Order: sequence, then structure tokens, then C-alpha cells
Amino acid sequence: MKLVRTENYAEMSLEAGKIIVDRVRSNPNLTLGLATGSTPKGVYDYLIHNHKENGTTYTNAKSVNLDEYIGLSAQDPNSYHYFMNQNLFCHLDINENHTHIPNGAANLLEQECLRYEQLIKNLGGVDLQLLGIGQNGHIGFNEPGTAFSSRTHIVTLAQNTREANSRFFNSLEKVPTHAITMGIASILDSKEILLLVSGERKAEALNKFVNGEISEQFPASALKYHKNVTVIADKDALKYI
Ligand code: PGA
Repeated sequence: MKLVRTENYAEMSLEAGKIIVDRVRSNPNLTLGLATGSTPKGVYDYLIHNHKENGTTYTNAKSVNLDEYIGLSAQDPNSYHYFMNQNLFCHLDINENHTHIPNGAANLLEQECLRYEQLIKNLGGVDLQLLGIGQNGHIGFNEPGTAFSSRTHIVTLAQNTREANSRFFNSLEKVPTHAITMGIASILDSKEILLLVSGERKAEALNKFVNGEISEQFPASALKYHKNVTVIADKDALKYI
């Protein structure tokens, strides 16, 4: 595992953005694994800026997202479909049909999970997966206790995850209780992983990740089994390290 220390959120985003652009330029057909939330927003801003200024093209690239809330349509402003469209896809030249996010509004959710796993396989797997980490160590929506062997599945969101994400909703009650997420084994299949960690609120989780044991009670620890992980963290997140 490689640890890149940065001064702040902007520098973390820049470092991650440069790695993504490098991979896209050397393999224009790649499949990017993408994430939502506050952490990757700065990276997406960098990719948009770079696309406009330097012409990096995504016409042959594909993307798969980690997760989606159950019960929200793609048009719902709190859905991850909406987030990705607004914060990235609309601003790049990526073909909309090449962007994939689990369908949290599917009627048959178990089938949707199987479809998503198959889709990733058909794409040849994820070349570069961007990840954030939850304060409880979750990756995607794989909450503590999730089997490391898990594939795309339906999860009940942890109370602290719902509380953390309630900042995007008007109230805690409005935060969905369930989600579809790529599993830990699905994430570990990615050829390369970039884990971004920013802010003091993530400092304990990062410390546990770097110095703690590998345990299903701390999902991110599974990344220690992966051979090509780069952690890019800022000073506040690195407070205990
Ligand atoms: P955040 O979420 O980027 O909004 O902090 C990350 C996560 O919970 O995985």
C-alpha cells in the first residue's frame, strides 16, 4: 500500500485527479469505478477542468459506480445517479450509455444485484476504483460486519451512516434505510484502487485502517489484501499517523 500525504483537500483532489487522467490517457477504453459523497467532488472538478483545458477524452471510457440508495429514482436530487450526472458526467464527453450505477428503483432488487455483477464482468472488470471511507470504515455501502467475500448486494444502512448522510436530506427520516452496493469482493477485483481520505472527521478511521487489524468489523481493512492500493490523505485526516 502506498500512502500519499497532502496538505489539504485541494491537494488531495489534485493528486488523485492527475492519476486518473494519466490512466485514462494511457488506456482510453478503461473502466473507471466511481464514488459519490463529499470526498470525490474535488477530483471530479479537476477532471472536468482538465477535460476542458487539455482535451482529455472519455468517449471510449466506461464507468461503474459503487452504490445507490434503494427507493430513489434517478431523477431524485439525492440519488447517486443525479449526483454523478450533475457533478461529472454532464461535463465530460463520456457516452451516457457507458455510465453505470446500480438501479435502486428496480422492482426485482436481487436480480438487479446479479445484473450489476455480470455487467462489471462483461466490461472486463474495473481498471481503477476510486473510494472514500466512512467514519465506521465502510467502503461503498459495505457496513461493518459485511463478509469480505460479498458481491453486489442489498444492505441496511448503519444508523451512523444515515446520520452522516442526513446533511444532504432535509431530515434523518428522509434518508433511505437501504442501498445496493458493490460487495467487498467486487471492489477487491479492481486492478487498481485509489482511497481518498480528507478531514479530521476521518482521522480515526484512517488511523484504524493504517494501524489496525484486518477484520470484517472494519470493511476498509480488506483493502490490505489488495496489491495495488494508493491512499491519498490530507493533513487533517493524517492527524494520528
Ligand atoms: P463522504 O462519504 O465522502 O461524503 O465523506 C464517504 C463514505 O461515506 O464512503
